[in-house]
Amino acid sequence: MTSPYLDVAELLLKLKNCVVLTGAGISAESGIPTFRSKDGLWEKYDPMVYASIEVFRTNPSKYWQIRGDFIRNYDSYEPNAAHGALVELENLGIVRLVITQNIDGLHRKAGSRRVVEIHGSLREIICQRCDRTYLAPNIPGGDPPHCECGGVLKPNTVLFGEQLPTEALEAAIRESSRCRVMLVIGTSSVVYPAAHLPVVAKQHGAKIVEINIERTIPDADFIILDKAASAMTRLIEAIETLQRTSTE
Ligand code: APR
Repeated sequence: MTSPYLDVAELLLKLKNCVVLTGAGISAESGIPTFRSKDGLWEKYDPMVYASIEVFRTNPSKYWQIRGDFIRNYDSYEPNAAHGALVELENLGIVRLVITQNIDGLHRKAGSRRVVEIHGSLREIICQRCDRTYLAPNIPGGDPPHCECGGVLKPNTVLFGEQLPTEALEAAIRESSRCRVMLVIGTSSVVYPAAHLPVVAKQHGAKIVEINIERTIPDADFIILDKAASAMTRLIEAIETLQRTSTE
């Protein structure tokens, strides 16, 4: 009986051309709460109150209440072994692109070079009046914080009711339709259009590999039920084992 790790490692080495889709689960082991797991953010806060553009326009404090701490401690969050493994796979010429729903900036911080942040990033904080951009964690005080011009500051993230950044979404759909393998790591696959990307990839003949502590994609070709950091570490080990045996 082969291990799913060796099967997926073989697939990645054979096909390469891999695009990755990540969600909050990949950052859980970096100490960032997910949204819908037990103790997730939306278990405590109603997303339609605390993360909707409609409410932000009238009462921006609500959003800052749930994101202020993260932004003011932006530099204290570190990537984990799962983020690091994706950098290694990029350096091996296997991963071509990381598409992330995460706004924590940890893929770039880990060293991934090709990253599409389809829900934006908490790194850029933009004045809603003069468009001035501040970079986390260096933002003015106050709740909500205001720009020197008096305008309210809003992180460059997509709130519920807002459109995704066109360029990012187009790139995500285009690259999903061109990959041979899609690794889907740590997402509940319930938020669209992100949850449609594995469907696009599969429709264009790609193999889908899900890595999660629960199964969320019914027609995934491979499933690794484990935490992202340990799963990705074992996947790299399996790739190294196959590379070693192929040269012996
Ligand atoms: N390793 C792997 N998977 C994990 C881990 C872990 N350590 N911890 C949790 N998970 C899985 C959960 O089982 C769940 O399937 O990660 C997933 C997290 O799901 P959500 O909390 O729904 O996060 P996500 O899918 O990224 O949410 C999508 O919804 O609220 C919006 O804009 C927000 O980008 C977000 C989008």
